[in-house]
Amino acid sequence: MSNILCIGAGYVGGPTMAMIAKNCPEHKITVVDINQERIDCWNSDDLPIYEPGLLDVVRLARGRNLFFQTDVAQAITDAEIIFVSVNTPTKMFGEGAGKAADLQFWEKTARDILDNCRKPNVIVVEKSTLPVRTAEAMAKIFQLGKSSTKFSVVSNPEFLAEGTAIEDLTNPDRVLIGGEQNEIGRKAAETVAELYAHWVPRENILLTNVWSSELSKLVANAMLAQRVSSINSISALCERTEADIEEVSKAIGMDTRIGAKFLEASIGFGGSCFSKDILHLSYLCEYYGLPEAADYWASVVHINEWQINRFFQKILHEQFYTLAGKTITMLGFAFKQDTGDTRDSPAIQLCKKLLGEHAKVRIHDPKALENARIDLKEMQGDVSFEEDVYKALEGAHVLALVTQWAEYRELDFERIYNKMVKPAFVFDGRNHLEHEKLFEIGFNVFPLGKVPLKQV
Ligand code: UDX
Ligand code: ADP
Repeated sequence: MSNILCIGAGYVGGPTMAMIAKNCPEHKITVVDINQERIDCWNSDDLPIYEPGLLDVVRLARGRNLFFQTDVAQAITDAEIIFVSVNTPTKMFGEGAGKAADLQFWEKTARDILDNCRKPNVIVVEKSTLPVRTAEAMAKIFQLGKSSTKFSVVSNPEFLAEGTAIEDLTNPDRVLIGGEQNEIGRKAAETVAELYAHWVPRENILLTNVWSSELSKLVANAMLAQRVSSINSISALCERTEADIEEVSKAIGMDTRIGAKFLEASIGFGGSCFSKDILHLSYLCEYYGLPEAADYWASVVHINEWQINRFFQKILHEQFYTLAGKTITMLGFAFKQDTGDTRDSPAIQLCKKLLGEHAKVRIHDPKALENARIDLKEMQGDVSFEEDVYKALEGAHVLALVTQWAEYRELDFERIYNKMVKPAFVFDGRNHLEHEKLFEIGFNVFPLGKVPLKQV
């Protein structure tokens, strides 16, 4: 039996440790966080994050071999394997502002480990997304400290996507473990591999060197985001040429060399990883003297911002360039369906632009209203939050679909149309709704990358 600790009980740490606890009942897993409120939620049935299927997994292991607490120092004392999944947001000040990773939480954690560990051998597993070479920096902090503990730093990036975390953790395409290329490093990587081997087939557990592992995480996200920006750029071309983006996505996705996933045009990608990781990648390229490569990756983020703005401009244009006093209802605020997470959601930018035009913005989201309130609390303007989707649309001039929640497809659009201001407009930022049906009801419908359906 090992004492396994995870520092950081967020979107990554919580679900990942719950899954390890479920599958490795012989090990004791403790998850710590400095945020008392978060830990209280993990200890209740009102989990701090919405993730389908997560509560069942937590319930199964909590109190058996899975524990949530706030005493970080005490928990470090007993730990033999320490996963670090604290936040590494984009740095907003000083050198590298707006691009580099802000490593203050991460470095504090390294120092906490150094000051409190008591076991002779400790494996530190880097789970946060960090720019390459930070495992090395972490190893240096440990070496320079006075601790008699022997540390081995392993990189084990997490590839789960929010909304499908449990499925992704249960059947991961691969588990990536980067270890130092010496005997201790290989042994440490193998120890971590053994945990996953409880439920992941061995051939899906990939052992690499530390830097390849770290870089692979950034590159995987950058490549996925690049596909979204690529298809979004083509959605604009479709709108000019009367080609249909869904037909184009299908046609190119059937080429097995391209593949069908991540080709859905959207208002823009969001989430805590994509922009942040691409900006890190771009910063790394710049740092290592590769400005052309840096520009190439940065352009993926630029296209994303452009796409969000394009969506806004379309609304503005169709409303005769005047939104002042008009009610715009945003359906969805989360960055994607099946999560309450709003980090970097395109909804935030859209809302800001609408409020800048003095529109009245009403927001509905089945799971993200609380986060939306926090995101918008400093924003000036007429913004309200509505739990009832029909009320949210009463008297609205525009329905702007931002998040592809399944329930939005099932709404009674006749009822909605009757209560909206006429002419009623739908702007579908996800091509999620049934456009022909809406048009027949009487809406003016503006999809992405398709010919709009206008009543006159
Ligand atoms: C991503 C990676 O998929 C995951 O491997 C990594 O661990 C974390 O970052 P996540 O951000 O949770 O996961 O969600 P993801 O499903 O990748 O979607 C990211 C964004 O791209 C969302 O805003 C989504 O709506 C958007 N997207 C995705 C599109 O706009 N079109 C698509 O075709 C796919
Ligand atoms: P992610 O999506 O990467 O999991 P989150 O922001 O959801 O990111 O989670 C990171 C968690 O790490 C937060 O709950 C935060 O309170 C916690 N955290 C940050 N610094 C520390 C620290 N030094 N010790 C313990 N927990 C920390």
